Order: sequence, then C-alpha cells, then structure tokens
Amino acid sequence: MNHEVVEKNIGLMALFMVLAVSIGGLVQIVPLFFQGVTNTPVEGMQPRTALQHEGRDIFIREGCVGCHSQMIRPFRAETERYGHYSVAGESVWDHPFLWGSKRTGPDLARVGGRYSDDWHRAHLYNPRNVVPESIMPAYPWLVENKLDGENTATKLAAMRTLGVPYTDADIAGAKDAVKGKTEMDALVAYLQSLGTALKNKR
Ligand code: HEC
Repeated sequence: MNHEVVEKNIGLMALFMVLAVSIGGLVQIVPLFFQGVTNTPVEGMQPRTALQHEGRDIFIREGCVGCHSQMIRPFRAETERYGHYSVAGESVWDHPFLWGSKRTGPDLARVGGRYSDDWHRAHLYNPRNVVPESIMPAYPWLVENKLDGENTATKLAAMRTLGVPYTDADIAGAKDAVKGKTEMDALVAYLQSLGTALKNKR
C-alpha cells in the first residue's frame, strides 16, 4: 500500500531517489577522505618547484588537459604502454587535479623523463618537427613569453594553505626562481616532473 503512494507521486519518488543515490555516494566517497592510501603522498615525493608549478598553470591555460589525460588505469593495455598505473598518493598535492578523461593524444601521467628537454621544445614549438603525422596544435609563443614571477610566491602560498608542504624559503625564493625564464622552460620542467615520484622508486 505505502509503496503505491510513492509510485503515484513523482515528487515523493524523486525525493526518495535523491536520498538513495546520496547515501550510496556518501558511503563510497566519505571514507576516501580518511584512508591513508588516498591522502598520503607517495614516499619521497617532493612538492613541485616554482618553475614546475608555473608550467602546470600554462598546461591548464593552454587546455592541454582537453586532449591529454594524466591517469593510467590499472589495465595491462595501459601499463604496458604508459608504465605503472596512477595511484592516488601521486595526486594529493594537485589542486585542481588534471586526471582528465579525453585522450586525443597519449596519457601524460608518466611522460617525465621519457624524452629529452630538447625533444619537448621542438615538439611544443611545432609537433610536426618530431612527429610528422601529429595533429597536436603548435605552441610557438611559449618560447617568446617570459615569466615575470610577480604572482609565483602568492600561488605557492595558496597551495600551502591547501596542504602542499612549501617552506617559507620556497615561497620567498619563488619569484627569483622563475623570473626571466620562458613559458617553454616552465612547461617542459613541468612535463619532465610528471609521474617521476613513483617511477624513481621502481
Ligand atoms: C588537439 C589535441 C591536443 C592538444 C590540445 C594537445 N595535444 Fe599533445 N598530443 C596530441 C596528440 C594527437 C599527440 C600524439 C602525436 C604527437 O606526439 O605529437 C600528442 C603528444 C603529446 C606529447 C608526447 C606524448 C608521448 O608520450 O609521446 C606530449 C608531451 C604532449 N602532447 C604535450 C602536450 C601539451 C603540453 C599540450 C598543451 C600545451 C598539448 N600536448 C596539447 C594532441 C594534443
């Protein structure tokens, strides 16, 4: 009888559906905030340098995440191609995380150290330089744009409030660490850092 009441009242039905889905979601999501495996950094992981952090911001600005994921799933086809699957501890200091979901290009979670800096420079300047059939856009302005470092310290300080263990010295030295470097320098430094915390352990 009671069931019929719910079935005939769409408002009530919607309310119960929302409740059921929320409880299901909470049961899965809430424990993750408290489990060491999801919120402890991978052993030996270092916070990004100021230059790598600026590079990450350029990666976000240029929309690289629209074509490149940073999330290797634990399947053989993925690990044979990209390396060890991604673990949560590698992303605990990523705000926002850039796991992405679109793979027009390859996953970049472990691209650090796979190519030389020169390869990345040539590739980002014009991907056709090194991969003739590439459909990736060219980013030639990265070599011209210089960083002034005006906001770098503020950015690192903001990351510190989110739990990234930057020291006072890191923040104080942030501006000088990036000033005069090109956006290309920063982006390449960032790419070379990707996935290395776990890779170095193996
Ligand atoms: C329109 C989609 C698209 C966008 C946007 C894009 N890429 Fe790519 N990227 C590709 C494709 C396709 C490839 C594979 C061909 C090649 O190597 O150029 C690739 C390859 C790469 C590789 C080599 C990966 C490997 O393992 O061989 C790197 C590194 C890379 N991209 C970085 C970037 C960065 C950094 C940006 C943003 C500045 C970016 N990509 C933006 C499509 C894209």
